[in-house]
Amino acid sequence: MIKQAIIPLAGLGTRLLPLTSVFPKELLPINGKPGVEYILEECFQAGIKDIIFIISTKKKLIKKYFYNDNFYKKIINKKKDKRISNEYKKILKYKKKIKFVFQNKPLGTGDAILKAKKFVTENHFLILFPDDLIVKRNCSKDMIDIHKKYNCSVMASKKVKKNEVSRWGIYSVKNKISNNNFLIDDVIEKPNQKNAPSTNAVIGRYILSKKIFNKLERQKKGIGGEIHITDAIRKLIKDNSKFIGHNFAGKYLDCGTMKGYIKSSLEISKL
Ligand code: G1P
Repeated sequence: MIKQAIIPLAGLGTRLLPLTSVFPKELLPINGKPGVEYILEECFQAGIKDIIFIISTKKKLIKKYFYNDNFYKKIINKKKDKRISNEYKKILKYKKKIKFVFQNKPLGTGDAILKAKKFVTENHFLILFPDDLIVKRNCSKDMIDIHKKYNCSVMASKKVKKNEVSRWGIYSVKNKISNNNFLIDDVIEKPNQKNAPSTNAVIGRYILSKKIFNKLERQKKGIGGEIHITDAIRKLIKDNSKFIGHNFAGKYLDCGTMKGYIKSSLEISKL
């Protein structure tokens, strides 16, 4: 069973400036709810029991958001408001399940995940990138089912346009396993159009084995001078670890860019 999820939240959010100059992007409201709560709901509905948040000193507000239960308590004592008391209960529930780990230098996704190493107790765990919202269907749950069936690592994916490959991790397919599921042959972080082996882009949901930590500990900086999770995954694939790319069924909303962030509220309000 997959019980633990790691959520990296230490990114600077420069693509969403000025909204993120004082406020963490993951707390920005999307149709009236902080973006990170959509990610948490996806986790809990998929059966995750234990969450590890990777934050930075610059993003301490995220911890405060989940540790502000005294503030709610005072208000609830003064006025009985069902909505506020439900929010209070929700925050308390989340607080109990989230551990906070710090990554103070923005050295990349791989470095962020490595920071969670000592808290990972299961052989396999889930990673969710909060910029990538997937609605209408629980992508994590579907990936956990695939993991159970094939006993392997899984990455969420979708087809992208040829001229967009340099924005993503791109993988090549060894063979098709079933509808929407592909055995991965190789993966490259943000290739240019010429080097891209396909247009299959990795989206921010991963089920990985603990073996990734050995690779991350030795991982050198890659494109853009950062330590990428993709580069460590590539090494596991080279060691014959089985990775499935799962073309998810839900609707993808890219909340990491201004255009996508604005669109995500509109799309969610229509659900
Ligand atoms: C990261 C990964 C990339 C993946 C993407 C999905 O990139 O490095 O492989 O395709 O997430 O959102 P980032 O969004 O941090 O640039």
